[in-house]
Amino acid sequence: MDKLNITGGQRLQGEVVVSGAKNAALPILCASLLTGDDVRLTNVPQLNDINTLSRLLGQMGVKVAQEGAGTLVLKADALTSCEAPYELVKTMRASILVLGPLVARFGEARVSLPGGCAIGQRPVDQHIKGLAALGADVRVEHGFVVARADRLKGAIVRTDMITVTGTENLLMAAVLAEGETVLDNAAREPEVVDLAEMLIAMGAQIEGHGTDRIVVQGVERLHGVDYRVMADRIEAGTFLCAVGAAGGDAILRAAPPAAMGAVIDKLRRAGVTIDCDGDNIRARMDRRPTAVGFRTQEYPGFATDMQAQLMAMNAVADGTAVITENIFENRFMHVQELIRLGADIAIDGHTAVVKGVPSLSGATVMATDLRASASLVIAGLVADGVTTVERIYHLDRGYECMEHKLQQLGARIERVSDRRSA
Ligand code: EPZ
Repeated sequence: MDKLNITGGQRLQGEVVVSGAKNAALPILCASLLTGDDVRLTNVPQLNDINTLSRLLGQMGVKVAQEGAGTLVLKADALTSCEAPYELVKTMRASILVLGPLVARFGEARVSLPGGCAIGQRPVDQHIKGLAALGADVRVEHGFVVARADRLKGAIVRTDMITVTGTENLLMAAVLAEGETVLDNAAREPEVVDLAEMLIAMGAQIEGHGTDRIVVQGVERLHGVDYRVMADRIEAGTFLCAVGAAGGDAILRAAPPAAMGAVIDKLRRAGVTIDCDGDNIRARMDRRPTAVGFRTQEYPGFATDMQAQLMAMNAVADGTAVITENIFENRFMHVQELIRLGADIAIDGHTAVVKGVPSLSGATVMATDLRASASLVIAGLVADGVTTVERIYHLDRGYECMEHKLQQLGARIERVSDRRSA
């Protein structure tokens, strides 16, 4: 397993290009199941999760061709299976996103239940409830969701809570259903909007995406598309937190500032100077950050996927920050590791109280999940001495060449594969 060795103390200077959004690309790849025509996607981030989903679609008989860096061409004209096996689904929960499109286009699906993960139990009951509301016969048997429908029928579907992939699965089911579907209590995340825009470009009739009420008029079929995936607001926010913590002057190119309001507001409150110009964001920080508390919420609130990263900046801030995680039940796995680096953090249920310390001290720490690993990298950038982050396969799931991008900004960071470090 690879590790990252980070020598702290370097201010970040220079430019990086933000990659395509993992959490937009994953549902968008699954949407290729909704047509037999070519679906050509650009700005697809080169991540392990994308590779896993490409392998899953390939196993179903979808033709997946890489046409240069960041460009994939998919063609689902001759499927051989409607099954997503446990071996792949257990490594990437987002595989559940094949459920809606498979039932919508092929009338059947057999998708392994994803099971939980480090940050929470992650149930998919709302995906199942919504498909049943659209007329599918859905059962859970032997660890699989088994769904069948001659043709889905439009309905009013209200989820019990706001769910991002639940909204995406049901949206992909509704676009080929008979009649009108209303998704009530829908997720408003930019990645949901990106999926909807791609579906509309394929001939779907969708209104209200980006609000909590999406209205879909089902159509008979969808045609191929050439679509560019939106930029990753979480990757961009992660780099902004790194500048806030380590100081410096960095420019993010191809970023989505319009989707980053909550994060930018918090970082400005912490003392980071942030200037947005089109899809470029310049971040400057020349002092110790001021502690800034926050509560994670569904979009447009502060994203849970940014919680660990802003906590790392707060660990060295002036003052105390109170952080409340409202979305997942176990998303403080990074806290114990930050404490190993000298952070002063107390957890009380869903709330963490972070008392900023003047400095952290480098140590060996272990990544537990994707965003926790990003948090430990940020902490390593400011810790005295060397920080070694182990198990960075978590990081590689959601960040494209994180260490190369940080090296471009002057960070002293290098990847060590176990072979050499043995
Ligand atoms: C998506 O996960 C993202 N993943 C997550 O990003 C992100 O943290 C999350 O949305 C919240 O923004 C992708 O888009 C691939 P939810 P998702 O359904 O859809 C509960 C990352 O780091 N719930 O919005 O799985 C659930 O337990 C990842 O990139 C049910 O109870 O999250 C949670 O408490 C991590 N039943 C809450 O809703 C359901 O059927 C929100 O979950 C569905 C969800």
